[in-house]
Amino acid sequence: MVAVGGGSTTGLAKALAARTGVPQVILPTTYAGSEVTPVLGETENGRKTTRRSPDILPETVIYDVDLTVELPVPTTVTSAVNALAHAVEALYSPEANPATDAVAVQAIRGITHSLPLVTADPSDVDARAELLESAWLAGSLMAQVSMGLHHKLCHQLGGQFDLPHAETHTVMLPHVMAYKEKESPEALAKVADALDVPDAAAAVYDLVHSLGGPSSLRELGLAESSLDGIEPMSVLRAAWEGTRPEGAPDLSALTAQVIASFDETPSPRLKQLITDLVRHLHHFAVHNDVTEDEWLFAIDFLTRTGQISDDKRKEFVLLSDTLGVSSVVDALTNSRSPLTTPSAVLGPFYVEGPPAMEHGADISGGLAGDPLWVSTQIVDVDGKAVPGAVVDVWQANKDGFYDVQLPEVDGPVLRARFVADDEGRLTFWTTLPREYPVPEDGPVGQMLQGTNRHPYRAPHVHFMIVAPNYHKLVTQLFVKGGAYMDSDTVFGVKNGLIVDFPKAQGEPPAGRAVGADGWHRLDYTFRIGR
Ligand code: BEZ
Ligand code: FE
Repeated sequence: MVAVGGGSTTGLAKALAARTGVPQVILPTTYAGSEVTPVLGETENGRKTTRRSPDILPETVIYDVDLTVELPVPTTVTSAVNALAHAVEALYSPEANPATDAVAVQAIRGITHSLPLVTADPSDVDARAELLESAWLAGSLMAQVSMGLHHKLCHQLGGQFDLPHAETHTVMLPHVMAYKEKESPEALAKVADALDVPDAAAAVYDLVHSLGGPSSLRELGLAESSLDGIEPMSVLRAAWEGTRPEGAPDLSALTAQVIASFDETPSPRLKQLITDLVRHLHHFAVHNDVTEDEWLFAIDFLTRTGQISDDKRKEFVLLSDTLGVSSVVDALTNSRSPLTTPSAVLGPFYVEGPPAMEHGADISGGLAGDPLWVSTQIVDVDGKAVPGAVVDVWQANKDGFYDVQLPEVDGPVLRARFVADDEGRLTFWTTLPREYPVPEDGPVGQMLQGTNRHPYRAPHVHFMIVAPNYHKLVTQLFVKGGAYMDSDTVFGVKNGLIVDFPKAQGEPPAGRAVGADGWHRLDYTFRIGR
């Protein structure tokens, strides 16, 4: 038996096969999914019964997207929502398992992605193919898990009142989803995630509405009195009236309007960045149901961040650092090659044009601390020295303060500029860096305190290395075994930057006299790339 058609054609083939035992070849022209299930629904005397048997499952199914291209848009919409219902109900089925969940989520994504494309251009074969494949996935779930409330209600309505199958599915699905939200919130959350929306039921309602699908049982011709005595009444009442399930209002048109306002942006990059920013901001607000008070708090927070900032206090940099954004952008921009030394964030304490110093100089300006001798070499990715590289270094004192934070310190201290010698080397004395808190007396501190985060940076020395024809390297070296290495508050620590700062033996270099506690040394080779 060869059947070419939609769900009822397939159903007829199944009914005949169940009675005669002849094998079936099914060529579906809609998205009903019945062709991959061993289930047969039959209506007799106003009662729809379903049965399940291996004889009913079609032996062969041929999906040919060309057979679906002429399916009219209204039928495409209702048939696709029927398929969507299979995937949604699979998620809260008692037999659901991780494998069926994964198929369901993929089907939901595929159906909701392709359906608007197909309705915009019914001859779009790629979108039709995605829809057909997703509907097949959704249909296959019916053979693995049992369908729930939605299918039971649709069958009852269909059998009792002779309502059209796919249209009934289309009207009912958002209302059943809203009802199920209370019973199976985890399953509905998976649908919301797949759709990338805060409220799955409202989103499905809006999708159907935007594609011109039916939204009430009333418009399918059901008399109001028919509902009497059917449970659960609240679902049917809402479906009969076609009211939108509660949830965030549909703001997609507003977002689209704002994005379109940037259509004339001359720079393609600016256009890309600003429209994607708007999209993410709108999505953030909708997804979290952001209140006006929360948004005003955020605006006030940013205002205060600006007000506390000046050329020494860079609160916006600190905010970007403590949110990890600086490290993300830094990694994207600077750490693309495994052959070069990893980069790390600049931070707010770099000061342009530090004092030039000679090799072997002491940059500590006499500030107390454990003496540290630093000896580094700058090489390229082949290990060849980079002579003449300009190297800025800066760090905090033993109490964790940079010079710009110390009112009693006059002039630049613990910061210097060196020029690498012919072997790409440079050396200097400084003090052993310690962990320190980032400034906590501003909005960023409020954020850290309000989220129970500590304000500490792991101990480090900063380096900025500039050489003609090489990429600039901005990085930090961290003291192995130091505090907060696993929880640096600006997310700057990387394995390749964790270095031994061991206690040193023997005579201190450059004629330096050290106390009874001795001295430490740091030896490191930086690799920079072109
Ligand atoms: C710093 O290492 O100087 C630093 C980096 C980011 C935020 C605060 C401080
Ligand atoms: Fe620092």
